[in-house]
Amino acid sequence: MKVDVLLGLQWGDEGKGKLVDALTSGYDVIARFQGGPNAGHTLEFNNQKHVLHTIPSGIFHSEKLNLIGNGLVIDPVVFKKEVDRLAGFGVDVHDNLYISKKSHLILPTHRLLDAASETSKGNGKIGSTLKGIGPAYTDKTGREGLRIGDILEDSFLARYKNLRDQHLAKIEQFNFPFDLQPLEDEWLAAIDFLRSFKFVNGEYLVNEWLKSGHRILAEGAQGSMLDIDFGSYPFVTSSNTTCAGACTGLGIAPGHIGNVIGIFKAYCTRVGSGPFPTELLEETGELLRTTGHEFGATTGRPRRCGWLDLVALRYTVMLNGVTQLIMTKADILSGFKTLRVATAYRIHNKITMEIPFDTETPVEPVFTDLPGWSEDISKLKDKKSLPENLKGYIRFIEEYLNVPVTVVSVGPDREATIHMV
Ligand code: GDP
Ligand code: IMO
Ligand code: MG
Repeated sequence: MKVDVLLGLQWGDEGKGKLVDALTSGYDVIARFQGGPNAGHTLEFNNQKHVLHTIPSGIFHSEKLNLIGNGLVIDPVVFKKEVDRLAGFGVDVHDNLYISKKSHLILPTHRLLDAASETSKGNGKIGSTLKGIGPAYTDKTGREGLRIGDILEDSFLARYKNLRDQHLAKIEQFNFPFDLQPLEDEWLAAIDFLRSFKFVNGEYLVNEWLKSGHRILAEGAQGSMLDIDFGSYPFVTSSNTTCAGACTGLGIAPGHIGNVIGIFKAYCTRVGSGPFPTELLEETGELLRTTGHEFGATTGRPRRCGWLDLVALRYTVMLNGVTQLIMTKADILSGFKTLRVATAYRIHNKITMEIPFDTETPVEPVFTDLPGWSEDISKLKDKKSLPENLKGYIRFIEEYLNVPVTVVSVGPDREATIHMV
């Protein structure tokens, strides 16, 4: 058996939550491999909308197993809220959710450090979700971090206090006001709550599952253009969001990776700072934002919007070894007479298809214009009924990227999913 990986190819929010949920029926296990509560994965069914941050998007299928892999950073407070919200919908996650003992903890002081550091950067800020992601991964790689498995040790509280005090000394340098006590009380209560979950050696479990024939789907968070190595550094997140992250974030060998399902929006969005060559700063961008409800699922911030960037997509298809593509939000493009897609960049008067190393270089997109469609496609169920110009748009993308589009999403609901093969 192999592990299929579904991951975002742009700057996050491509519709991973919706599609993982829609595809879960074909798998036995859904496993998150990186990121943490910076993720906001939305899924909709029965006219209800759910947003998940830490818990895999297979959780609404009661017969399926879900794993939080070692590559994640977990905030117990966010996790508890998520579990409580799910309980309100009659979903008890205790039985079918496993948490790797090696995943790392986000402390309240990680969140404070994130906020203090962002505030100190002024205009140069990353636009972090302020969930403590950067500081928590910094402690992980600095070999100072606390892991979920540590909660079970007698020394946990002492180790927590030690790390907290190190953080407080750092925060002092920022001159940043805060009141730790209520945050700490809430966090310690959430730590107790966490103890009722199944902590596992995730890497052993996932490999046993593979041996015994379980079908596993690894669910990415963020998007490849926010990858710590390959994104527009420093305007990135702090984990490997690309396919290799599934190996290190779950403990599976590269040879066990099967299909790599790359998901992208039919246009582009980005939240936070950093380069965005096809960004539309005028009314077309505003139209995409309002029609597409482009506001962050985690922070509520307006997302920056722009035309589809095939140069960036070609890059992330290459990095991930994408074997099939899913295009979402095709319905939002209905009504545009002409659609523009970036097929090259002009940098210092030279045409290139490479993303520049630094984030300062002025990049001018070179567009190809394609005819749009006017039909409302949000109720369509069958690939044959798609408008001809939408089929042409898809064909153009497939030919440019040399990868087939196997699913087209035409609405937020689980059912609004058209299989192309
Ligand atoms: P994720 O982080 O990749 O899971 O994506 P988000 O949940 O942050 O953002 C995607 C948004 O688009 C959510 O509000 C989804 O409900 C919505 N969505 C997903 N697919 C479609 C689609 O095909 N059409 C429309 N109109 N909305 C979609
Ligand atoms: P999902 O999984 C979109 C962005 C933030 C910021 C940068 C760093 O829902 O697609 P961080 O909090 O990680 O230190 O922020 O990354 N970012 C996301 N943008 N979707 C996400 O997740 C994101 N997670 C982080 O806006 O620019
Ligand atoms: Mg999201």
